[in-house]
Amino acid sequence: MSDFSKTINVQGRKVNLVDEGQGDPILFVHGFPLNHAMWSHQIHEFSRTHRVIAPDLPGFGGSESLRGSEPVPTPLTMVELADWLVKLLQKIGEEKPVIFCGLSMGGYIGWQFAARHRARLARLVACNTRAAADSEVIRRARKIAAMEVMKSGTGPVAKAMIPKLFGSVRLGIVGLDADKKTAIAQTEAAIRETNPETVAAGHLGMGERPDMRQSLLTLDVPTLFIAGGHDEITPASEMETDASFVTHSKFVCAVDAAHMVPLEAPQDLNGSLREFVG
Ligand code: MLT
Repeated sequence: MSDFSKTINVQGRKVNLVDEGQGDPILFVHGFPLNHAMWSHQIHEFSRTHRVIAPDLPGFGGSESLRGSEPVPTPLTMVELADWLVKLLQKIGEEKPVIFCGLSMGGYIGWQFAARHRARLARLVACNTRAAADSEVIRRARKIAAMEVMKSGTGPVAKAMIPKLFGSVRLGIVGLDADKKTAIAQTEAAIRETNPETVAAGHLGMGERPDMRQSLLTLDVPTLFIAGGHDEITPASEMETDASFVTHSKFVCAVDAAHMVPLEAPQDLNGSLREFVG
């Protein structure tokens, strides 16, 4: 699948993004520690009918970090990233409220975008994510992971994450089609290529994120929750509970997928998203 990404400048820093198609804007926000390519099937499908905006967040993929090189990384917070996305939309001249579609960390950013920039939000798609904050145990594990990645680089992170992201890898499913094999290999490469400072800063930033469950009660935009039946990072049952707190919500589950529903079950995701956005 071709990649139409290009480079622009936001606040004097290089940003790599896909900005394709015309119509109501859909903003696709990737998970951690990935890049816009995880949305390749959705970019292909929705750029026929919408303006599809899929950036690499600062420090990820081909986008420059917001920080200089630091011996001890500063947390990259979800608030900072939500505000940065607004600057990006301003830069590309998009004034219409967006359909915000975020996966996992992208979803954590989505709650902040909804809370801080409500006028810029038309609809929300929460994909393989959660509204709760980290437990104390996870927060501590993130601090250790941040130190580890600074010491040993991203190789071990990639190795550990792939079976968590893809159910087909964890379950040892053989005979995957070429498209899925490529998606898994590209995802592993994306993690390896992310700079360790960004991975560390991302862990620390996610560890600091607040519990947003209360905000679900007052969320007043139509919201689609998309879960994966084998997702152990953000379990479907927890997502279904989050969805039950949002007035205008719909919950769907791709039963055979894990955390990477956009790549593992693209037809399911595209079908649900198409129904949701028209
Ligand atoms: C992600 O996919 O963005 C991460 O797994 C989120 C997290 O570490 O909580």
